[in-house]
Amino acid sequence: MKEIEKIKLPIKKEIDLFEGKFSNSMNSSVPLLNRITHYVVNRKGKQMRPMFVFLTAKMLSSGKMNEKVYRAASVIELIHTASLVHDDVVDSSNVRRGFFSLNALWKNKIAVLVGDYLLSKGMLLCIENKDFDILKIISDSVKEMSQGELLQIEKSRRLDIDEKTYFEIIKKKTASLISSCCALGATSTNASQKIIDELSSFGQKIGMAFQIKDDLFDYGENKIGKPIGIDLKEKKLTLPFIYALNNSLPEKKRWLKNSIKNHNLNKKRIKEVINYVKEIGGIDYTIDKLNEFHNQALKDLEKFPKNKYRDHLKSLVDYVIDRKY
Ligand code: FPP
Ligand code: MG
Repeated sequence: MKEIEKIKLPIKKEIDLFEGKFSNSMNSSVPLLNRITHYVVNRKGKQMRPMFVFLTAKMLSSGKMNEKVYRAASVIELIHTASLVHDDVVDSSNVRRGFFSLNALWKNKIAVLVGDYLLSKGMLLCIENKDFDILKIISDSVKEMSQGELLQIEKSRRLDIDEKTYFEIIKKKTASLISSCCALGATSTNASQKIIDELSSFGQKIGMAFQIKDDLFDYGENKIGKPIGIDLKEKKLTLPFIYALNNSLPEKKRWLKNSIKNHNLNKKRIKEVINYVKEIGGIDYTIDKLNEFHNQALKDLEKFPKNKYRDHLKSLVDYVIDRKY
């Protein structure tokens, strides 16, 4: 059994039920929309975000479930899917999860509208059930994610990113939604504001680790079956590169910046940049930061009731850091 399937075991029933509800939540009377949402549902991802919602909720309630937790998981997955559909338009990316992206198959205008549709379905699911606490948490995340993406675009145009800004970008574009997953697991089980805030902070650290790990994949660190150097090609400057920039002599700094500014489509030059970043210690430095967030998240987790759900939540956190894709 795959590691992720083992982690799912104590929430298997919930995930199975969730899949049906999630799929129904996208139903529409427009045939084109239904064809596209079918395509989306059949190419599901690892479902890590709903897993965080269910495991957090069950950890707090010692295994008791209610309908609100399912709605929270569906809302999260709707918003997450919408954000990926829009992100592939933003990044002009033709592949997602090993399949063609919606923009590759149906072009940008349809992809943008499908993303809007999914976003609205998430919002409506909250409103129709008067889940205004869920709506507040999720709307905050959508705001943060949009800001994070825009900040990233601004920085890739000017190539003037520093470490502080990098952490701000990943906190907004990725960590905010994972933080919301854990906060929603708590909100849906009527936890106190203190617990909701603590879980939100725990989720934020996991989200930071998640994106740092993703950024390491671009340097060929363990990633299975994906080309390397795509971020650099898109002028997306991540922590290994920022470290190299900060620790190089002026001449090398100019070479690094010039490589990204004027030679980002030259595969040989990008490979040279990757090798240089490795040599100067950019990967080791980034792995240290990844481990810091990992350890902080595990420490946070110790505050919560010890039960099998907490153990599986720990395994899920470890999986985020150790995953190979
Ligand atoms: C993937 O990052 C993208 C995100 C983490 C966030 C995308 C957010 C938006 C487009 C704005 C919010 C929009 C809505 C509708 C909620 P990446 O490009 O670094 O990683 P990738 O390799 O998965 O593409
Ligand atoms: Mg992208």
